[in-house]
Amino acid sequence: MSVGIIWTVWRVLFFLHLLQGSLCLRDVYTVIPEAAERGKPVVLRCMYDLENEDLYQVKWYRGDREFYRYAPRDVPPIKVFPISGIEVDREASDAQQLTLKEVTRRAHGRYTCEVSADAPSFLTAQVHGSMYVVDLPKNDPELIGLKRRYKPGMKLKVECISYESMPPANLSFFINSVPALSQHVWHRVGGGENGSLWTAYSTIQFVVQKQHFIRGKIKIRCSAYIYSIYFRSHEQVADEERVVRPTITPLPETREAMVFPIHRVSDNSGTTVEDNASTRFLQLTFLVLVYYTVR
Ligand SMILES: *[C@@H]1O[C@H](CO)[C@@H](O)[C@H](O)[C@H]1NC(C)=O
Ligand SMILES: *[C@@H]1O[C@H](CO)[C@@H](O)[C@H](O)[C@H]1NC(C)=O
Ligand SMILES: *[C@@H]1O[C@H](CO)[C@@H](O)[C@H](O)[C@H]1NC(C)=O
Repeated sequence: MSVGIIWTVWRVLFFLHLLQGSLCLRDVYTVIPEAAERGKPVVLRCMYDLENEDLYQVKWYRGDREFYRYAPRDVPPIKVFPISGIEVDREASDAQQLTLKEVTRRAHGRYTCEVSADAPSFLTAQVHGSMYVVDLPKNDPELIGLKRRYKPGMKLKVECISYESMPPANLSFFINSVPALSQHVWHRVGGGENGSLWTAYSTIQFVVQKQHFIRGKIKIRCSAYIYSIYFRSHEQVADEERVVRPTITPLPETREAMVFPIHRVSDNSGTTVEDNASTRFLQLTFLVLVYYTVR
């Protein structure tokens, strides 16, 4: 009986506590990038709405170790507890923002922000987020093996390579901007030994069909991405090889052979021929005059 009453009272108190919580410390969330580039600074944010209460403190944890505390009534308000792989930029950090200098691979992990309201409620909320630390490729993905021309029935085989990143980039192929069928694509990765960087390889192979050509062209694109921090594409275009009827085949050559000299003569030597002709006419006239004069 008495246990029942205590239970009920506790539940009411808990409900009131929740109600108070929802009125005093609201909209707590973190803005943590999914991935940060190694060696670059990164900003983590902890957003909250204290409504009418004052802030007591904000704490940041990596895993379960606290490494940063902001308490507005402390002097100085910022305290940093060193942990390996994380260096806090105090000048660029405050009650809502935490800036890490030149992140190392060990900065990867789960981050928790804990916000506490001041007396009398001392309400506390925790929110989490995870961050990867990555090495981005220095160059865009490369495409290797695309021929200049294809015709229906030919095999098309192209390799896409994204060099040296950590983790390896995710590669995907597009044919005329449409994702390639997965059964035409093979993936593999290389490297990664002893902590070195990874290289991602993808190969697409299929038999070209008439419908792969759009206005006589086929476009092959490879995209590489690493989480939401890196996205690069490389596209190449091949032409449809025109099917030429055998009787017509020799024509272009013949025509070219005929056109070429006429073109050359009229363009480069036309005036000279005319000059020489008129010169010869003058010479002839002169000779005729001399002949008659002498007679
Ligand atoms: C990785 O390190 C081990 C031992 O340090 C060495 O035997 C091996 O050859 C290394 N592998 C590469 C690919 O460098
Ligand atoms: C690659 O893709 C897989 C599956 O979609 C995903 O789980 C993984 O996080 C991606 N890796 C990177 C580095 O983006
Ligand atoms: C025109 O005459 C000059 C000399 O008179 C000669 O060198 C030149 O080759 C001639 N050009 C043509 C097109 O016959």
